[in-house]
Amino acid sequence: MNLPSKVKIVDVGPRDGLQNEKQPVPAEIKIGLVHRLQDAGLTEIEVTSFVSPKWVPQMADNAEVMRGIRRKPGVRYSVLTPNMKGFEAAIAAPREEWPDEIVVFGAASEAFSQRNINCSIAESIERFRPVVAAAREHGIHVRAAMSCAVGCPYEGEIAPSRVDMLAGLLKEIGVQHVGVADTIGVGTPVKVQRAIEATLKHFGVDDISGHYHDTYGQALGNTLASLEMGVWQYDTSSAGLGGCPYAKGATGNVATEDVVYMLHGMGIETGIDLDKLIDAGVYISEALSREPNSRASKAIRNKRTV
Ligand code: HMG
Ligand code: MG
Repeated sequence: MNLPSKVKIVDVGPRDGLQNEKQPVPAEIKIGLVHRLQDAGLTEIEVTSFVSPKWVPQMADNAEVMRGIRRKPGVRYSVLTPNMKGFEAAIAAPREEWPDEIVVFGAASEAFSQRNINCSIAESIERFRPVVAAAREHGIHVRAAMSCAVGCPYEGEIAPSRVDMLAGLLKEIGVQHVGVADTIGVGTPVKVQRAIEATLKHFGVDDISGHYHDTYGQALGNTLASLEMGVWQYDTSSAGLGGCPYAKGATGNVATEDVVYMLHGMGIETGIDLDKLIDAGVYISEALSREPNSRASKAIRNKRTV
């Protein structure tokens, strides 16, 4: 096994984690979470999304959150921008409040593309094309998420050929990095490896990340399977928060705490202080009146009290 010696974690908790919360979470709490994550050593944080507030009301405070963040040198702040309207809104603020990276999000499934972003896969590529070009002209890094890379809530299992097709289209319009997303957490290790293999036809291993929701408890296994292929970047969610509003029943991304515990146990560096990370997860979970959805967090906190 040729495992990476270092892993970069992108905490998507403030965006993917919170976007589906029914109760409005004040901007101040979201900013507090970002601050705690950067203090714990996270070097990339997916902060918010510039999408329709009618579709995703929880992200309506995007500009306020971006304005409120105390930037820490060396940290990359990313936001979702599905179209030019979103991109223009993301850069309407003074330059110091711009995101360092934007994320366009396409799907390997037609039905999910329609439900999530209200257009076909082909149309989504045409919407992303000017966004990618404008971002790159502004010196903003461009990542894309490939939703439903192994399974779709509407179409069922997704063939690797669909991922191959989508990754090729994203590469062609100038996307710099892609995330292989198991939106509904149905993937198992070999299926995830096939989706990564399809992506590797278009992107180098340094430009691919894993984004695994943990609905069926497979995300750590899928992370290990991806590590075995040399993938060293992962999106995870503080306290396991979240889910996608267009993927009913799907739970959050794998908890950052659980992934960091696993990686450190394997001798893989993340630069993250697990204790501070756990405290960040407790902070946001208390704000939502619930327990962190992370086994490692629970086990470590239990030991703290004895
Ligand atoms: P649309 O209906 O096709 O867009 O929405 P439109 O251009 O026809 O505009 C319709 C209305 O939306 C107009 O407002 C626009 O101004 C407004 P109205 O005139 O009706 O008042 N609008 C916008 N407002 C704010 N920001 C914008 C924007 N664009 C249009 N950027 C759109 C297209 C994509 C915007 C819409 O479908 C949408 O917002 N969908 C929500 C998508 C979303 O946030 N999904 C969750 C995030 S993705 C995810 O979780 C998956 C991921 O984690 C990976 C994985 O796990 O799979 C990334
Ligand atoms: Mg997601």
